[in-house]
Amino acid sequence: MVKATRCITGIETLDSELNGGIPTGSTVLISGGSGVGKTTLSMQFLANGIKKGERGVFFTATETVPKLKRYQGVYDFFDEKLISSGDLSVIDLWSISDRLGLNPEQYNFDEINILFEVIRDITKELDAKRLIIDSITSLCYRIQTREAIRDFLFKLGASLTALNCTTFLTSEIPPKLFQYSQYEIEEFIADGIIFLGDIERKGDLIRTLQVIKMRGTPHGRSRFVLSMSSKNGIELAPMLKSEI
Ligand SMILES: Nc1ncnc2c1ncn2[C@@H]1O[C@H](COP(=O)(O)OP(=O)(O)OP(=O)(O)O)[C@@H](O)[C@H]1O
Ligand SMILES: [Mg+2]
Repeated sequence: MVKATRCITGIETLDSELNGGIPTGSTVLISGGSGVGKTTLSMQFLANGIKKGERGVFFTATETVPKLKRYQGVYDFFDEKLISSGDLSVIDLWSISDRLGLNPEQYNFDEINILFEVIRDITKELDAKRLIIDSITSLCYRIQTREAIRDFLFKLGASLTALNCTTFLTSEIPPKLFQYSQYEIEEFIADGIIFLGDIERKGDLIRTLQVIKMRGTPHGRSRFVLSMSSKNGIELAPMLKSEI
């Protein structure tokens, strides 16, 4: 049997839960509500990749680039040098869209194709091995029809796999909605889903992380407590049964 090569997230507990890491070239949905850590997990994944010599590209569609840099700058793993060295590219998706003259309300078929080609070409040109779109929800909002979303995600996933690039798509879901994506298409097209949630205990909200699916590898499905600190970024700890 050929063993898939792994893209190591660098978050130890997550890598062991995934039996060694994410199968390289997968498209993974990072799904969760507000403030659960989707953007931070994604940036840490890129920063850890750079340590291994893998370039990263972060397409932001929820925060401006200066804001993203300011907020991620509180973590030790994030350093402006990652950007100045060319290992990390942070790109405002809407600026690209505007510069291409695409309709800011809703994309037609040709416009979706143009955006797809631009993302693919930038990834290829930068030789990026890790890519983030934060968030796929806001991008899908401009694509609108379910058929067009399906087509876009399918083509994007296939072309990034061909480039050996592992992709995180962040997915915003309102609390208590029992699905992992807004349009329910993203979660079926994605190879993997990592769910970031909240549980309430004694009046406190505790952040949690759980691998829901990852094609091409056996994996655990335990829920972990997720903590964030400037020094270590995101860390995971086992959840005591009494906390559930
Ligand atoms: N140094 C820090 N230590 C601990 N927590 C922090 C630190 N800096 C920021 N945070 C927390 O990180 C949270 C935001 O994380 P992040 O932006 O990754 O979440 P998100 O899921 O992307 O949120 P959104 O839904 O707004 O996109 C904030 O609630 C903030 O309190
Ligand atoms: Mg975010």
